[in-house]
Amino acid sequence: MEPSALRRRLAAAGQIHLLRFWAELSGAEQRVLAGELQGLDCEALSGCFRRAMEGAGARAQVDGRMEALPRDVLGSVTRDAERLPEWEREGLCQIAQNKVAVLLLAGGQGTRLGVSYPKGMYDVGLPSHKTLFQIQAERILKLQQLAENQHGTKCIIPWYIMTSGRTMELTEEFFLKHDYFGLKPENVIFFQQGMLPAMGFDGKILLEEKGKVSMAPDGNGGLYRALGAHGIVVDMERRGIGSIHMYCVDNILVKVADPRFIGFCIQRGAECGAKVVEKTNPLEPVGVVCRVDGMYQVVEYSEISLATAQKRSPDGRLLFNAGNIANHYLTLPFLRDIVNTYEPQLKHHVAQKKIPYMDIASGQLIKPNKPNGIKMEKFVFDIFQFAKKFVVYEVLREDEFSPLKNADSQNGKDNPTTARHALMSLHHCWVLNAGGHFVDENGTRLPAIPRDSFTNGMPDAITADANYNLKDANDLPIQCEISPLISYSGEGLEKYVENKEFHAPLIIDENGTHERVKNNV
Ligand code: UD1
Repeated sequence: MEPSALRRRLAAAGQIHLLRFWAELSGAEQRVLAGELQGLDCEALSGCFRRAMEGAGARAQVDGRMEALPRDVLGSVTRDAERLPEWEREGLCQIAQNKVAVLLLAGGQGTRLGVSYPKGMYDVGLPSHKTLFQIQAERILKLQQLAENQHGTKCIIPWYIMTSGRTMELTEEFFLKHDYFGLKPENVIFFQQGMLPAMGFDGKILLEEKGKVSMAPDGNGGLYRALGAHGIVVDMERRGIGSIHMYCVDNILVKVADPRFIGFCIQRGAECGAKVVEKTNPLEPVGVVCRVDGMYQVVEYSEISLATAQKRSPDGRLLFNAGNIANHYLTLPFLRDIVNTYEPQLKHHVAQKKIPYMDIASGQLIKPNKPNGIKMEKFVFDIFQFAKKFVVYEVLREDEFSPLKNADSQNGKDNPTTARHALMSLHHCWVLNAGGHFVDENGTRLPAIPRDSFTNGMPDAITADANYNLKDANDLPIQCEISPLISYSGEGLEKYVENKEFHAPLIIDENGTHERVKNNV
C-alpha cells in the first residue's frame, strides 16, 4: 500500500489521481513514484499555478504598456565603431586577469529540433563536423590565447554549463569522451536546473506513465535557483570573477565571452546588459528588449500581439526592434543579489503545450493534437528589472546570430542548413577581408565587393557585410570553414590567405590551409 501520509497530502492538495494506478505498479515502480511524489511540494505548486495563470492574463495585456528603448542605454557596433577597440581592450584586460566567466544555458529539451540528445551535441554538417559544444569550447580556448598574447599572463575563462534532468548525463559523458575539447576539466563546471511537473488547465498534475509524473525543466530562469543550490556563485567568488557572459546553446555564431560586449558593459558601469540584433520581421520568433511600466524587460515572441509587433517608427523600422539574442552580461555582485534576494520574486510564465499524458479514466496514453496543459517556466531575462544600470548592445545579425531551433524538414528558418550557411558565409567574409580570393573551376575570381570602411576593432576583425557577393553560382554560400582555434572573430588570417586564391571548399585549421573535395551544403 502507498504510505497513508502521502495519500492524505495528495488528497488535501487535490492531486490524489496521481495514485490511481498504484495497485498496478510493481514494488520497484511504486518506490520510484512514491519518491517522486514525496519530492513535490504540492501546496507551493498550486500557488505557482495560480500565480502563473494570473500572470499569463496580465502579460496578455502587456502591449499597451510597452515603450521602445531610450537611446542612452544603447551601444552599437556600427554607430559606435570608433569605440570598439577601447571596449575590446577593456574586455581582454578583464579576461587576462581571470575576471570573466561564461555561463551556458543548456537545459532545454530541443523539442522543435526533434533530437533526443542535448542540442549542444548537434552536428550541423560543417566540413569539420564540429558540434556546437566543440565550436564554443574552441572559441573559449582562442580567446584565452588572445588575452594571454596581449597581456603576457596565462588566464582561464571558467565555463559553467547548466543542464537539466533531461540533458545532464549525456552532456557530461560527451565532454568526457571528447577530453573537454582541450579545456581543463576543473574549469568546465556542470550543474543541474530544477524540474516542475506539467499540469492540465485545471491545475491537476499530469502522469507521463502510470508510475511516472510528467516533469519538464523549470525554464532557463531556473538558472538562479540552481546557481544557489549548487554553490556556483561561491565558486565564482573563489575564482575572483567580476563579469559573467551568459548565453544560449543554440546560436552557432555566438561570440562566447565577447570582449567588446564585456568592455562596453563595464565602461558604461552596467550591472546587467543584453545583446540584440535588429528585428526586421514582425513574425520572427525572438523576444524584444523594451520597457514595460518603465522597467526593462524582454517581451517574449509568444506574449506580444501581432499588431504591436508590426508597429513602426517614423523611420519605417519596427518600433520594437531590439531582438533578444539571448546573450546577457551580469556583474557578479548583481548575480549574487538575484540569487540571494530577488529570485523568489521571478514569476513563472505559462506555456500551453500538447503534453502526452496517461488518461486517468481509461489508463491509456493520450497524445493530444491540441494544447491540453501547461508547463511553467521562469525566464532568464526577467531579472533586468532589478538592475540599477542596464544597457543594450546592438550587433549585426550576420556576424553574431543564427540559432538552431528547427529540423531541416520543418521549415526554412533557424535550422541546421541556415546555421551551417551562416557560419560559412561569415568565414568567407573573413577570408576576403584578410586579402584572400576565391576562384571558380576556370580560375576566374568570384566577384566580391568588400566594404570600404572596416571596423576599427580587433586589428583584423571585420564584420560580414551585405555588400559581399556571398554566393556561388548555385546560390549556395561558398564553403569555407575556419577553426575557432585559428581565429575568434576574423583576426589573424592574413598569414594564411593574403593575396592567395582558393577553390572552395576551403578549410583553415591547426594543420594549415586545405582545399578539400567538395562536400554537399
Ligand atoms: C530564447 C529567448 C528569446 C530569444 C531567442 C533567441 C528565453 C526565455 N527566450 O527563445 O527571447 O529571442 O532565444 O534565440 O530565453 N533552456 C534551459 N532550460 C530550460 C529551457 C531552456 O537551459 O528549461 C535553454 C536552452 O537549452 C537554450 C535556451 O535556454 O539554450 C533558450 O531556450 P529556447 O527554448 O530555445 O528559447 P527560445 O524560445 O528560442
